[in-house]
Amino acid sequence: MSDVSKAKQYIKYLENRDLPDAEPLIIDCDPGIDDAMALLLLSDNLAKYDVKLICSCAGNTPIDITTQNMQFFATNFFPGVRIAKGSRTALVKVNPRNADDVHGKSGMGAYEVGPQDYPVEPDAIVAMADVLKNSEKPVTLVTLGPLTNVAKLVILYPDLKDKIKEVYTMIGSMNGKGNITSYAEFNSYYDPEAFDLVVKSGVKLVINPMQLGNETRIPKAAFEKMPTKNLRDNFVKVLAESINETVDPTCVCIYDPNTIVGMVKPELYDFVPCNINVYTAPKVGGKTVITEDPNGKHLVQKAKDIEKLKTFILRALFNKEQY
Ligand code: RIB
Ligand code: CA
Repeated sequence: MSDVSKAKQYIKYLENRDLPDAEPLIIDCDPGIDDAMALLLLSDNLAKYDVKLICSCAGNTPIDITTQNMQFFATNFFPGVRIAKGSRTALVKVNPRNADDVHGKSGMGAYEVGPQDYPVEPDAIVAMADVLKNSEKPVTLVTLGPLTNVAKLVILYPDLKDKIKEVYTMIGSMNGKGNITSYAEFNSYYDPEAFDLVVKSGVKLVINPMQLGNETRIPKAAFEKMPTKNLRDNFVKVLAESINETVDPTCVCIYDPNTIVGMVKPELYDFVPCNINVYTAPKVGGKTVITEDPNGKHLVQKAKDIEKLKTFILRALFNKEQY
């Protein structure tokens, strides 16, 4: 991105930060090819959202790589945003498998962003607490990786839970099936104790479950057909081509974007009250069963029209949608 366009983006970002009705957000992510796509979609909506903080967590790749990728996004798509480094490991699990077989050692497939110089605060939990303390209104948390950071936040700062409006989160599975193991979705598998703790903490979750990403997987041919008019188009195409697909080799299965699209285009989904059961026993850690319940404390996203949603996500990635 040229310096001029960076400067314009920075000015737009600063102007938007003063929008009184902009929704304050904290983002927690483990970029991650689909995290990258989700962050792109969010960066198109800075007039509606005031991103107060972006945090990294270990997950798809080790914390130093997810942090480096987060810095790349701060530099190119969220200039001026505050960022902080999160948890290096899960709460309890020792050496959970990461997903670099899917996302590459770089975490962003063919994009090796390399060392970055964007300033990073050393402790994501302290930074999250600082944002919550100083926010005039409750803050929406958006999580695209394991919930280790959020679990630590609610343990260490229980008095700040009422400053968390809700947590839009890509995690879990409806039916006890998984994508990293037969029984668990990756973000849940990586830190099941964190997920279980956050579910029981009293904060409201809006869940984007694994099934939604599987249902909205986009044919690789559809990505190939999209015109490549600028750097962003090319960035999206290379990210899509870089995923080492495990669900359906003819498609690109991207989970995290449904969390952002659920926020900016809620009319494309039903949000169904539900209960969430997270298994933490060693042999099934991360397995989840999400049951629809009119008295449920949390909500789960369900696509109203899968084909319409797939089309929207693809077009939005190439900046062809007006939100
Ligand atoms: O199961 C998919 C989730 O795990 C996505 O958030 C992906 O980026 C990985 O973090
Ligand atoms: Ca992720």
